[in-house]
Amino acid sequence: MVKKNYKANKKFHNKDRTCWNCPAAKLKGNVDFRGCGQSRKIMSARGDEHIMIECKRRPELGRYEPTITFEQCPQWEKTKYGHLLKNMRIMILGIDGYLGWTLALKLAKLGCRISGIDNYTRRNCVKERGSHSVVPIVSMEERLKAARKVLGVDIEFREMDIRDRKKLKKFLQKEQPEAIVHYAEIPSAPYSMIDAKHAIEVQNNNVLGTLGLLWLMKDIVPNTSLIKLGTFGEYGTPLTGRPLFEGIFPSDAILKWDNREWSLGGELTPRDPISFYHVSKVQGTFNVYEAAKYWWLRSYDVMQGIIYGVHTDEVAAGPNLRTRYDVDEFFGTVVNRFVAQTIMGLPITVYGTGEQIRAFIALEDAIECMIRLIASPPEPGQYDVVNQVTGLHKLNDLAETVAKVAKKFGINTQIQRLENPRIEAEVHPLEVESTKLPDLGFRPKVSLEKEITRIFELLTQPEIKKRIEEKAHLFIPKTTWSGERKESEVLEVYEPGTKKKKGYKGILHQPQK
Ligand SMILES: NC(=O)c1ccc[n+]([C@@H]2O[C@H](COP(=O)([O-])OP(=O)(O)OC[C@H]3O[C@@H](n4cnc5c(N)ncnc54)[C@H](O)[C@@H]3O)[C@@H](O)[C@H]2O)c1
Repeated sequence: MVKKNYKANKKFHNKDRTCWNCPAAKLKGNVDFRGCGQSRKIMSARGDEHIMIECKRRPELGRYEPTITFEQCPQWEKTKYGHLLKNMRIMILGIDGYLGWTLALKLAKLGCRISGIDNYTRRNCVKERGSHSVVPIVSMEERLKAARKVLGVDIEFREMDIRDRKKLKKFLQKEQPEAIVHYAEIPSAPYSMIDAKHAIEVQNNNVLGTLGLLWLMKDIVPNTSLIKLGTFGEYGTPLTGRPLFEGIFPSDAILKWDNREWSLGGELTPRDPISFYHVSKVQGTFNVYEAAKYWWLRSYDVMQGIIYGVHTDEVAAGPNLRTRYDVDEFFGTVVNRFVAQTIMGLPITVYGTGEQIRAFIALEDAIECMIRLIASPPEPGQYDVVNQVTGLHKLNDLAETVAKVAKKFGINTQIQRLENPRIEAEVHPLEVESTKLPDLGFRPKVSLEKEITRIFELLTQPEIKKRIEEKAHLFIPKTTWSGERKESEVLEVYEPGTKKKKGYKGILHQPQK
């Protein structure tokens, strides 16, 4: 929804995309980056204002001022997602995952040179919980073969833990990526709440993995942009209704106290994580923020909404190219689980009041957002946050939408409210700003109903339906935030369309044009 008279209150830094943004530019001279936003002043004070560069891709240019725009530079080619470096070298950490694999195929098809690592943590965690991806996925070797055969693309893969810094160092030195997309974390709130062992494993994996990566980037690829995945769960749901700005307060945000006032502009907004997993993401945020400050690394921290869906042209191009799809309590995301429950003829399970509002985005749109960020690298030292979201939905409304689409497939379903296993606000306002991705040209292409329809089309195939049936006992949550292990009780079962809409509505500030 767009509020009347709403104007984006910030201009995104990178609008003018020049060599200054380009990962191929090697900064030259006595550049002191530690000025924390005052560097220009510091540099002009010592008469050192003109930063010179050398281009790693065009050494014949010698030293020059970084003013060539992407449009002017023959190394940057126009694509429908913006300009991309020719054969841009992109490393995807967590390439075997739901998003990593999908992004890898799309970028490879666009002509980028893709490398990636994964240690199969996700496959192992899902197996440990007794589940499987209901959309069958083949081994990485088979995936790579299929990518070559069906899409004609080659991907350079290494099985490796991101925390194995020796191995990662070698791989970074070899590949010299011009952008790094960091997906390699354990992405489950309930998994992090099982017990101390799991909470520690999630934080160790996520926090230390990112921290080690930052040190390696400083030494090996300091000009490379890091696109790090955060989540909306970092922000929580402020009960005051304070808008969720894009991670950093805008300049006109004011703190008033004791008859005095201050601008909050430029400060990180408060984080209020909602599980030990989300705490790990907040720690990641601070580590990346600091690294950008200390070493002038360039980074986008992507506060990503909950992803749903199965489709991009590339993953749909062959059965061995499909990305994973989980429906269990731990790794299934909400829309994906609702559709699977419906196909099983089971009621859709909504936790608590179902009035919780969350941020969402379809798989295909999320992948496009990532490409637009790669195509618009941050400046040296720029730590920026983007809110990646196309819709705010109440869980109850999502259940209604899934039930509505199910009807088109001849399936009638009920909605079941369960005792909430989580400790979270069940009724709250939610106002979100998301203007930076639209500033980079992103417009949502996939409606909620369209993607839910695509999920039904895929999941109702007999082989997949059978795989859902085998794991249907894992739908009902047994992990609670209080630490008790018990199955959530049913609070109410009702027919879709019989509940009155009430309470708050999510407000999303997103320019449409
Ligand atoms: N899917 C969503 O709805 C969603 C929403 C918000 C944020 N995110 C974030 O996006 C990222 C990717 O999410 P996803 O859904 O693709 O998850 P995923 O689990 O499918 O992908 C992560 C991949 O990283 C790998 N990995 C994990 N730890 C690793 C390690 N130490 N070394 C090497 N590889 C490792 C896993 O094996 C997996 O293949 C995560 O950081 C997640 O927190 C996801």
